[in-house]
Amino acid sequence: MSARVLDASSAEHRAEAAALLANGRLVALPTETVYGLGADATSPEAVARVFRAKQRPSFDPLIVHVADVDALGELVLAAAPTRHLVSELASRFWPGPLTLVLPRTARVPDLVTSGLDTVAVRVPAHEATREVIARAGCPVAAPSANRFGSLSPTTAHAVLDQLGDRIDAVLDGGPCEVGVESTIVSLVHATPRLLRLGGTPVEALRSVLPDLEERLTLGDGPEGTEAPEAPGQLSRHYAPGTPLRLCETPSPDASAALLVPMGPAPATSAGYGRVVELSPSGDDVEAARRLFAALRDLDRASVARIDVLPCPTAGLGRAIHDRLRRASVR
Ligand code: TXA
Ligand code: MG
Repeated sequence: MSARVLDASSAEHRAEAAALLANGRLVALPTETVYGLGADATSPEAVARVFRAKQRPSFDPLIVHVADVDALGELVLAAAPTRHLVSELASRFWPGPLTLVLPRTARVPDLVTSGLDTVAVRVPAHEATREVIARAGCPVAAPSANRFGSLSPTTAHAVLDQLGDRIDAVLDGGPCEVGVESTIVSLVHATPRLLRLGGTPVEALRSVLPDLEERLTLGDGPEGTEAPEAPGQLSRHYAPGTPLRLCETPSPDASAALLVPMGPAPATSAGYGRVVELSPSGDDVEAARRLFAALRDLDRASVARIDVLPCPTAGLGRAIHDRLRRASVR
């Protein structure tokens, strides 16, 4: 199988993407965070194809994407106080890079949630994708469109590189605006819990969720010994093939590359084979947008290792640091 490349700016192609999804096929879709590998979330067969294409373990549940908040009705059960919170979060952050974990209805197949009694949902900010989901007439389960454990794709080309021979189509909607995955918040406990750092900064969430608990089980233990609440949060993840290490200061080496997450490269970085600055001006949004593409480029540049300088943790900096830290786990 070789994936058809559809153009998100063509109404005909968007209709084709919707028809493929409605027929249980796999279509990679652009979102503001990363490209997702979409399938009809109500079809166990279609969802099984997603796991097969990604070589993803079936204990790792999928995020369900909907075109608008009204479409949540058939997927989630929420008592009045939680419903109120969901509408507040939705009006502030959706469409956008926030995923909410909520109690699920029987309409959501077990395979989507890996048997959990909760489901992760979000309304993505890419307009073409929302239109495709609405036209398909089904909620769309979509993990990031990479092979399991690899870098999340932020362009259609990166999707084709990893999954081109395993999916039916990719809708090319240009490079992703945000560049890191959505922030995940669980609303199934007495207090809201942060499960994954991502494209919505924690500071912004706190304006609606002042009591947000940060119980990030983000791989501080040896891999496999944790039982994270977001089961996909294995310590080694988002990884390039080239060894990557976090450094306090540069140790120049002509065979190595230096990645500077924010701000300009220091003068002491002269002597590296390559130096990549994600945002010389220190803009966290720009740095997040460029992160995965930069890692992919460096991975292809056949350098012996990638050194990474510290990343300030304001705004999206925490999510960037989280991805880099996990990419450094061997
Ligand atoms: O930005 C994003 O969220 C992208 C785009 C495509 O929407 N998607 C994405 O999906 O990052 P994925 O599959 O790579 O990561 C989904 C994460 C996993 O870590 C999974 O464990 C967690 O969401 N998750 C899914 N359902 C869950 C649930 N019911 N409870 C807790 N965590 C859940
Ligand atoms: Mg992923």
